[in-house]
Amino acid sequence: MPIYLDHAATTPLRREALDAMLPYLTEQFGNPSSAHSYGRAARAALDEAHERVARCLGADGREIVFTSGGTEANNLALKGAAWAGKARGHRIVSSSVEHHGVGHTLRYLEKFGFEVVELPVDRYGRVDPAEVDAAITDRTILVSIMLANNEVGTIQPVAEIAAAVRTHKDVLLHVDAVQAAPYVEIDVGRLGADLVSIGAHKFEGPKGAGALYVRHGTHILAQQQGGTQERHRRAGTENLAGAIGLATAYELACAERAETVARLKRQRERLAKAVLVVPGTELTGHPRQRLPGLFSMVARDTDGASVAMALDLEGIACSVGSACTTGSTEVSHVLTAMGYPEEEARGALRLSLGRTTTDDEIARACAIVPGVVASMRVGALALAADPLGQGLPA
Ligand SMILES: Cc1ncc(COP(=O)(O)O)c(C=O)c1O
Repeated sequence: MPIYLDHAATTPLRREALDAMLPYLTEQFGNPSSAHSYGRAARAALDEAHERVARCLGADGREIVFTSGGTEANNLALKGAAWAGKARGHRIVSSSVEHHGVGHTLRYLEKFGFEVVELPVDRYGRVDPAEVDAAITDRTILVSIMLANNEVGTIQPVAEIAAAVRTHKDVLLHVDAVQAAPYVEIDVGRLGADLVSIGAHKFEGPKGAGALYVRHGTHILAQQQGGTQERHRRAGTENLAGAIGLATAYELACAERAETVARLKRQRERLAKAVLVVPGTELTGHPRQRLPGLFSMVARDTDGASVAMALDLEGIACSVGSACTTGSTEVSHVLTAMGYPEEEARGALRLSLGRTTTDDEIARACAIVPGVVASMRVGALALAADPLGQGLPA
């Protein structure tokens, strides 16, 4: 079996989540909006799923809106808050390292007259809370900053950013916590966010299920019209099995978090130590304020996509960065924003560990990855020095 080191892209569905979902895909198929007994049973299970997710976040069940995933949660948060706040202002502050689910949504809002400010980041991908504060004007309605970056794993100083946002009246804070949710404790009260996005498939829940936390009193406009589901915030018959799978997987991830984080950190450090001896390699992202299982690097003079392909042939599944941009020739906007020149950013590689990653898999990865990275580098350097192969024997 190939070793799966791409948990930042997605994780396998855990057995407990599947078992909890199955009855709602079979006998208990009722529509939560139906008045009869099937519907009432479905409604009770859906209400309970709201409560269970809310408890993990220190929130109230009525503050949770189930969505089709992290991308939809981000879209609903940003467009919903932007349109609801239009009368107060049109300025939105964000960062230059957000996931496309945020970045591209903001580009879209610009077409409708919203002004978007993308703050720069430091070499480690961190936003300076003082810069957030300085960027907020009396026309600002929303700030959106991710909790942890999906390409380089850097954790943002969100509590400090929230404190800065709070000094301004009527400015909402949205936090994309999709990548961070399994590994970073989120208490919405302590975090100080008004809107928080999570997605189930990053913590061994099902794909196509996500949730948006919406603080009581926060007005967002629904982005799809139809029924009154999710307290008028998200029309459409609910994905009940998905919501239950999300709630089950998230509860387990939160309960096991301390142990998982300690193990992943140890495994990631072991892998990083083995790989970063290869000349021309460098860790990307913050050395300490980072997701425990996400190891990201650049290998100079290589093409990350080719390295990932070579690793695939050696039985290791990993990626260059965001799964959403795989296959495109675009270089990472995250690494570029962190100050890496395009040639270096092309050598990006991300190995992301998960709860089910074993020590044996890490030992095997430590034995394989450095050799593959080194040989790809040697090959690329030889090609650059002698592009026509004239120095090679016939
Ligand atoms: C930080 C971040 N935000 C949003 C998303 C999108 O989530 P989904 O795949 O559930 O739509 C991802 C997925 O990679 C992510 O890492």
